[in-house]
Amino acid sequence: MKNIVVLTGAGISAESGINTFRDADGLWEGHDVMEVASPQGFAKDKTLVLEFYNQRRRQLLEVEPNKAHFALAKLEENHHVQIITQNVDDLHERAGSTNVLHLHGELFKAQSTKDSSLVYTWKKDITLNDKCPLGSQLRPFIVWFGEDVPMITKAQELCEQADILVIIGTSMQVYPAAGLIDFVKLNTPMVYIDPKPAPIYGKSNLSVLSKTAVEAESDILNIVNLATK
Ligand code: OAD
Repeated sequence: MKNIVVLTGAGISAESGINTFRDADGLWEGHDVMEVASPQGFAKDKTLVLEFYNQRRRQLLEVEPNKAHFALAKLEENHHVQIITQNVDDLHERAGSTNVLHLHGELFKAQSTKDSSLVYTWKKDITLNDKCPLGSQLRPFIVWFGEDVPMITKAQELCEQADILVIIGTSMQVYPAAGLIDFVKLNTPMVYIDPKPAPIYGKSNLSVLSKTAVEAESDILNIVNLATK
């Protein structure tokens, strides 16, 4: 039984119908990132930001996990699998993965703007009338640009314990998430699955599969052989 740590990004959910951020049809198109994904943007125009995430949340109610999400869940039959996802969707959980750490928050949660420890399950729109019990506006439970990533230390510790690191569908451009690959042990095999993989330098144990996540379904199921061959 291996301890497999899997870092996922928007690409794994692309074939479920959720746009990635930096591909041509990315979510940010038509939106300045700082307008919809920063505390300053929220302070400037709460309605715009709430509506942006309300649309994402409504879409998430319509889509389903794909074969790559299910393959990762199936790996748990024989291995310990820890997902570290940058995604705010719940498609890993719906596919059956039981150890999922969300680095950048979760769309189906809302958070108090007064006390960040007050977090609520939230599947409908967040409106200007939605307040936490302390009376402050609720916001999407999303880590915005410029904000701390509270789960990063835990994610680093998990990477240190990995026997194999699998990276799926991320442009490796956003830190600190992209820096997690430096926390695995020196000889830990890494497999990076992405149709347009970002260049990663200085990792002698890295195999790259230029495939979509769904195309790589059988590679995911066979990841231990692939990583250790
Ligand atoms: P990006 O949009 O930056 O990168 C998506 C990656 O998915 C690219 O490398 C694509 O080549 C790849 N891709 C596209 N289609 C794919 C498919 N069918 N199968 C597999 N891979 C595919 O998304 P992330 O790297 O996840 O943060 O972006 C990181 C963070 O930037 C996000 O979590 C988000 C954003 O700002 C927050 O919201 C805080």
